[in-house]
Amino acid sequence: MREIDGMRRAVAERAAALVQPGMKVGLGTGRTAALVVRAIAARTKEIVGVATSEATAALARELGVPLASLDEVRRLDLCIDGADEFDPALDLIKGLGGALLREKLVAEAAERFVVIVDEQKRVARLGEKAPLPVEVVPFGVTHTREKLAALGLAPTLRTDGTQPVRTDGGNVILDCRWTTSIDARTLAAQVKATTGVVEHGFFLGMADTVLVGTPSGVEELRRPR
Ligand code: 5RP
Repeated sequence: MREIDGMRRAVAERAAALVQPGMKVGLGTGRTAALVVRAIAARTKEIVGVATSEATAALARELGVPLASLDEVRRLDLCIDGADEFDPALDLIKGLGGALLREKLVAEAAERFVVIVDEQKRVARLGEKAPLPVEVVPFGVTHTREKLAALGLAPTLRTDGTQPVRTDGGNVILDCRWTTSIDARTLAAQVKATTGVVEHGFFLGMADTVLVGTPSGVEELRRPR
């Protein structure tokens, strides 16, 4: 556990070093992204951050990092965020922290999307370890779940033990697993086309760089342009 903390800290420091004063920066969500926000705050507060969740916004405010909304900023120089899985093509699954919708909006607005992970997130194929989080509107969730099941998925409503977990947008999440082999792009299109679905956690062809924390240091993977 301590080793993972060290790996997360190392990638967070490496990512924060990419941030220059004057930049507009997307601030991700999760344990690793929180370390980046802290590392950025320690380096410079002369940035404008766009938070991908209420939790990240609260942390940034506490640390004195100036924030703006995505609509105020429009384009970002950089977005730094964690992920739940990455494959050899640097395709990702995100959203176990429930912030996938804002995370995708912010990452799409950035010139460069840098992903920070520990090596336990490395998979040969997406879905190997993590479920695919799918954010859906609460209205008719049982119907939406049946439609996703008809695509070959096994969706489970995410709860905190008793109640459905609500996202910052007031929606709920269906965590989807599958047992047959899938093509992520085909499945992503099918899920997105399902009425009731707001967004899914496939981030395909989006990451420019993945910084991987390993016991021997930070490995930098770049997507060919
Ligand atoms: C939140 C996310 C996170 O980036 C992802 O869950 C990784 O978090 P952590 O660094 O805590 O493992 O997608 O929606």
